[in-house]
Amino acid sequence: MKSNIVLIGFMGTGKSTVGKILAEKLHKDFIEMDDFISQKANKSIPEIFVQDGEIRFRELEMEVAKDLSEKKNAIISAGGGLILNKLNIDYLKKKSIIVLLQANPAEIFKRISKDGKEKRPLLDNNDPVKEIKSLLDYRQYYYNNAAEITISTNNKDPDQIALEIIGKLMVEGLDKKIELI
Ligand code: S3P
Repeated sequence: MKSNIVLIGFMGTGKSTVGKILAEKLHKDFIEMDDFISQKANKSIPEIFVQDGEIRFRELEMEVAKDLSEKKNAIISAGGGLILNKLNIDYLKKKSIIVLLQANPAEIFKRISKDGKEKRPLLDNNDPVKEIKSLLDYRQYYYNNAAEITISTNNKDPDQIALEIIGKLMVEGLDKKIELI
C-alpha cells in the first residue's frame, strides 16, 4: 500500500500551499523537498545554483528522492524539475502516488511574481514569461509521463484544489492502492 502523495508540477502551480492543506486534511506529514536539499547542502537553493551549479543541485535532488523512497504517510512537495530524472520518479513511486498540478504560463507568472525573482534562480532573467513557456514546452512530456493523477489549478483556490485531489484519489485511489487516511 502507498501512503504518500507527491505533488509535482511547474513552479507556481501551488504544490507547497496545496500540499500543506492536504497534509492537514489527511493527517500526514508535510515535506518540502527543496528544504531537504537545502539542509543537505547547508545553503539556500539560489546559493546552490549560483555557487555549485544546476548539475550539483540535481544530484542533491536525486539523493533526497532516494532518501524519501521509504518514507510513509507524507505529502511531499517536489521541486519543479524533479521529473527531469526518471530515477527520481522511480524512487518516489515505491510508496507514493504522483499528482501533477498544472497552470498556464500567465497564471504561473502572476503567482511567482509575488515571491520575488531571487527565490527562483531558473527564472531570474529578462523575460521570465518566455522562459516559463519554453521550460514548460520542454517539460510537459515528462510531467505527463510521471503523473498518475492530473489537476488543473487555473482560477481555483488552494482549498478547492486540495478537495479535488482527495476526490480524484477516492475515485482512482483504490486502483492505485493508496492508503488515504
Ligand atoms: C526548480 C524549481 C524549484 C527549485 C529549483 C528548481 C525547477 O522548486 O527546486 O529552483 O527546476 O523547476 P519549486 O517548483 O518548488 O519552485
